[in-house]
Amino acid sequence: MTSNSASSVTKSGEPVSLPAALASFTALWSPRIVTTVNDYDVRVAKVEGEHVWHVHDRTDEFFLVLEGELHIALREPDGERTVVLPKGSAFTVPRGTEHKPYAPVRTEILLLEPTGTLSVGDHHDDIPVHVDATTGHALA
Ligand code: NI
Repeated sequence: MTSNSASSVTKSGEPVSLPAALASFTALWSPRIVTTVNDYDVRVAKVEGEHVWHVHDRTDEFFLVLEGELHIALREPDGERTVVLPKGSAFTVPRGTEHKPYAPVRTEILLLEPTGTLSVGDHHDDIPVHVDATTGHALA
């Protein structure tokens, strides 16, 4: 056994209600793990305002917008651009690509990434106080 918080997530054998999961916490930029798929976490988060520039060296990161609108600024070889994800849109940030999520309004997202992935990546700018640097929290 490891002490990694994500490894302690227990599958209940019952369906998980995403609205109920999202209603169970209020913290912004603080993902909750709703289930796991092989070596991956399915996480949900409430977000608003800016996250932080960061990069995941070894993994892609999948985003699905459940409510609201998510913008993701990307630093690519050809320069910087921002993708806009309205409700219902999905996007994968490739491994090694510096990115900064931003939500102009209160937004709910679903994330898919390997268990243990840190929300602020392997390298990051100074972490603002409103951003939780975490590998994901268990649902209460
Ligand atoms: Ni990321």
